[in-house]
Order: sequence, then C-alpha cells, then structure tokens
Amino acid sequence: MALLFFPIVTRGGAMGHDGPVASGGGNRGEVVPDWEHPDTVAFFRDREADVRLTEIVDSGAVRPPTPALDVGCAAGRNAVYLAERGFPGVAVDASAAMAAATRERLEPFAASAPWTVLHRPMTELDDLSDASFGLVLALGVLQNAPDDVTFALVLDHLARLARPGARVLIQNFGPDSLPHGEPLQRVPGSAHVWSGFDQADASRAYTLPDPDALDALVTERGMELVAPTRVVWKEMKGGRRTTIIGDYRKRST
Ligand SMILES: C[S@@+](CC[C@H](N)C(=O)[O-])C[C@H]1O[C@@H](n2cnc3c(N)ncnc32)[C@H](O)[C@@H]1O
Repeated sequence: MALLFFPIVTRGGAMGHDGPVASGGGNRGEVVPDWEHPDTVAFFRDREADVRLTEIVDSGAVRPPTPALDVGCAAGRNAVYLAERGFPGVAVDASAAMAAATRERLEPFAASAPWTVLHRPMTELDDLSDASFGLVLALGVLQNAPDDVTFALVLDHLARLARPGARVLIQNFGPDSLPHGEPLQRVPGSAHVWSGFDQADASRAYTLPDPDALDALVTERGMELVAPTRVVWKEMKGGRRTTIIGDYRKRST
C-alpha cells in the first residue's frame, strides 16, 4: 500500500501510517514488515509528532514531568516531542534500528527528561512497574498482534502500567479497510483477527477490532473514553484504509 507514498522497493505489510511497508523476508517465504530498513527509519524520523498527542499536551491535560510510555515508538517522533517538553519516559520497539534511532535522538535529554528505550516486543512489558505512567501511547502497533490473545495481553499490560487518571491513546487500522480494493477476511475462530492486508502475504494476520470492540476491550480493563472513538477513512489507489483512534483515560477508582 505505501508504495504510493514512498519510493523504496517494498512489498506488502501493514504500518500505522503512510510509508514503506514491508520487505519479503525470512527463508520460509514469510513477509516481515521492514521496520529495520534505513529508509523506513528515516521516514519515521522525519515525521512530525502525532497531532492527537500534541493536542493533549497543548491542552495541559497531561503535564511534565508525567512519565510517558510509547509502545511501538518507531524512530521516536513522539518520544522526542515529549522529551523536548520535559516528559521522561520509556519507549519500546521490536525493531533494533528504530530503537537505536530513538535512543540516539533522546540522548540530549538525558538530564532534563530521561528516557529508557527498550528494544523488545510489545508483549514483554512485565518488568515495568504497575501504575507508573501518566501517558500511554500505542499508535500503529497493537494491530501487529497476530491473534486475539496477544492483543489482549498487550492491552492488559497497558492497563496495568497506566496510573489512575492516565491518558491512553490507541490507534489501529480498522477491519473494514480495503487495502487492495478487496475486503479483509476474518481468520476463522478469531474475534478480531483479519488477513488480506499484505499483498505479498495474504495469510499474514493482524488484530483489528472495530471501534466498538476496541472500546469494549479497553473499558473492560479499567479505562473510560475521553472522547468518542474516531474513525478516519483514507482513499488509496485501488482501495481504502480505515484508521481507528481511541482516546481513553484510566479510571481513578
Ligand atoms: C507504524 S509504526 C509506529 C509508529 C509510531 N508509533 C509513530 O506514531 O510514529 C509501527 C512500529 O511498531 C513496531 N512494532 C511492530 N511490531 C511490534 C511488536 N510486536 N512489538 C513492538 N513493536 C512493534 C515497528 O518496529 C514500528 O516501529
């Protein structure tokens, strides 16, 4: 899909944004999103901070030095934005190249707003302390969960790590996306797992709850909606992509 927006040679894959998507990877024919590619890192490094995040910070709803957690931080656009404003935090990404770029960009803030950058999957957050973050970002990353259980596991972590009153922003693709003009197919037996996003590997599964299902999954974990969950449709050549944006708050009681 992102071939429309970015010139490097890539195949298939689903990101949370326009951009390079995937390379054919692995020696068993699997397709792995090319999060390690230098051009992909550069693409994410050059992006402005997420507008929903900047609105929250500008509104004063979350103030420094509230600690932030950025899961799927990519090249650190949001972590750097926060560090510049005095928010310390923890950034997590499964890509070594993305984690390294984020770490390097956060170095100048080591004294003023220290961040820890963890190169690991979003499922491995057990060692982070309960209720330690007042702002939690999971933008374009949860959808990479290959199944409902993994998606729920990561949501459990986010809910556990958010302190009472914490703001939690989640962005995912929607299951009504038509990335290649064809509907996605629900994986049999799953609640929210869909295949068909990757042109190069139609069987690759993404976990894509619809807005109501996402709200239900989040609210049953002790969060409430700050605003109605939004859905944005973007036309693409030969198709359409749906993005779901949830703005939540961890309940205080
Ligand atoms: C679409 S980008 C996210 C962009 C970023 N949140 C932002 O707003 O700029 C997806 C990121 O999630 C990372 N990622 C993909 N699967 C992951 C996983 N299972 N655990 C942690 N990070 C993952 C990728 O390496 C990539 O940096």
